[in-house]
Amino acid sequence: MTSKKQPPKLDNRQQPFSEAFVEFIPQNWAPYDTTLPERLPAAEAAVARRDAVAAAFPGERIVIPAGPLRTRSNDTDYRYRAHTAFAHLTGLGTDREPDAVLVIEPTGEGHEDVLYFRPRAPRTDPEFYADARYGEMWVGQRESLEEMEALTGLGCRHLGELPVDLADTGSIAGVRVLRDVDAPVTALVDEVARAAGSERDPQADAELATMVSELRLTKDDFEIAELQAACDATAEAFEAVVREFPQAVAKGRGERWVEGVFGLHARHAGNAVGYDSIAAAGDHANTLHWIRNDGDVRPGDMILIDAGIELDSLYTADITRTLPVTGTYSPEQRKVYEAVLDAQRAGMAAARAGATFSDVHDAAIRVVATYLHEWGILPVDVEQSLDPTRGGHHRRWMVHGTSHHLGMDVHDCAQARNEQYRHGTLRPGMVITVEPGIYFKSTDLMVPPELRGIGVRIEDDILITDDEPRILSDKLPREPDAVEEWMARLLP
Ligand code: GLY
Ligand code: MN
Ligand code: MN
Repeated sequence: MTSKKQPPKLDNRQQPFSEAFVEFIPQNWAPYDTTLPERLPAAEAAVARRDAVAAAFPGERIVIPAGPLRTRSNDTDYRYRAHTAFAHLTGLGTDREPDAVLVIEPTGEGHEDVLYFRPRAPRTDPEFYADARYGEMWVGQRESLEEMEALTGLGCRHLGELPVDLADTGSIAGVRVLRDVDAPVTALVDEVARAAGSERDPQADAELATMVSELRLTKDDFEIAELQAACDATAEAFEAVVREFPQAVAKGRGERWVEGVFGLHARHAGNAVGYDSIAAAGDHANTLHWIRNDGDVRPGDMILIDAGIELDSLYTADITRTLPVTGTYSPEQRKVYEAVLDAQRAGMAAARAGATFSDVHDAAIRVVATYLHEWGILPVDVEQSLDPTRGGHHRRWMVHGTSHHLGMDVHDCAQARNEQYRHGTLRPGMVITVEPGIYFKSTDLMVPPELRGIGVRIEDDILITDDEPRILSDKLPREPDAVEEWMARLLP
C-alpha cells in the first residue's frame, strides 16, 4: 500500500542502475523449486483458533495485521517480530511476515480466511535487486502465494489487493480490526466505513483485542509442548552461563558476559530472548528490571538471572535463578533465599484448577510478609500489612506480583479482562509463572546491615492441570543444596 513507510532514498551512497544492468540481471537464474513446503507445525491448531474468533463475532469481518518493521534508528530496523495475535491465528513464527494482514471473512455458512502479504516478485522486477526491504538479493527468497498457502493452509492474496477487498463490504455485519498494530491498515478500515457513511466504534475493536488475548489464556497441546521445549532450552542456556561465571568475574563488566552467553544460546536454539535478559549481580538484583547489565560480577555476590528463550514458534520461557557466583551461598544469602523458596512453594501449592489467579500471589506474599515480620523488619503485624486498605508495608520489599500468564508473550494475554485474568479461575492448560522475591536494597536502613544488598527472586513456569501443577522449568534446581551441587558440577 502506498501509505506504508518507505525506506529512505539512498541517493548519496547508491549508484543508479544502468539500462544494461536492468536487462542483464533477470537472466540465467535456475528456476524456483516447484516443490511446495510442508505445512507449518502451528498451522493446524490455528484453524480452531480462527473458528473461535469467527464464532465470537458472527457475520463480521475480522482484520488482524502482523504489523510493520519498526525503526531502531534512521534506516535500521529492529529484527522483525509479528504481533502475537497474528502469529497465534496464522501459525507463522520467526521473521514472518512484515506488513501481512489476516482477514477472517464471513461467508454464508461460516468464514473464509485470507492472508494478504507481499509474495516475492519475479526476477524481472526491480524488487529483486533494488528493494532492501523485500528484495531477494537483500533479504533472501521470500514465499510465493502458492508456497505461503502450503505453509499456512490459508488462502493467500497479494497485499496490494487488500484496499480493494476491504472496500467491498458486501453483506457483512461489521468490521473489527486490531487497531494498534498497523496504522495504515487501521486507517484503511476506518476510511472504508467513512466512505460508506458511518463512523466506526473503537469499542468494537477493543472487544476484538480482548477476545484474541483471552483466546490464549489456555494453551493447546502444541503450545504446551513448545513452552516445555522453551524451558528445556533455557535450562541448557543457564548451564552454559554458569560454566562461564569464572570468565564473567575475570573480565569485568561480567553482567554483560552473562547476558551475552545467554543471548548466544537463545539465538542458536530459538528465535531470540523472549525479553531483555536481566543479569543483576549484588545490589543490582534489587532493581527489578535491571537490563543495563553493565556491572561487575564479584566472588561472594549472588547474581540474579531472569532470562528466557523464545523459540522459532515464538513461545518463550521466563525463568529466574539467583545463584552464588562462586557456588556456595553465604548464611545471609541462604536465609533470604530459603524464605523466597518457601513463598514460591506456597504459591505453587495454591496454583490449582478452580483457584483464582490472585490466590497464588496471596499465598506467596503471606509467606514473604511472615518472614519479614519474624526478622523484625516489617513495622506492622502481618495481618495489617496484608490488609490492602491499611497496610501493604511488605510491598517495600516485593512490589511486583507473583505471577503472570506466559505464552508467545512473556506477559501473555495482557488485554484479557480483569475478571478473566487477576480475578479469573485457573483452568487446566493455563501456563503461569510463580516468581516471588525479596529485595533488600543496600540503601534500605530498615533492613539489618548484614542483609542489605541481597536480592533474591526464584521464578518457575508452571502448567495448571487437574492435579498438581506441572513445573515446566523443573530441569533447573531450586533448593539451595541442589543449586550448589548443580553448580559444583558445572564450575571448573
Ligand atoms: N522477566 C519478566 C518477568 O519476570 O515478568
Ligand atoms: Mn515473569
Ligand atoms: Mn522473569
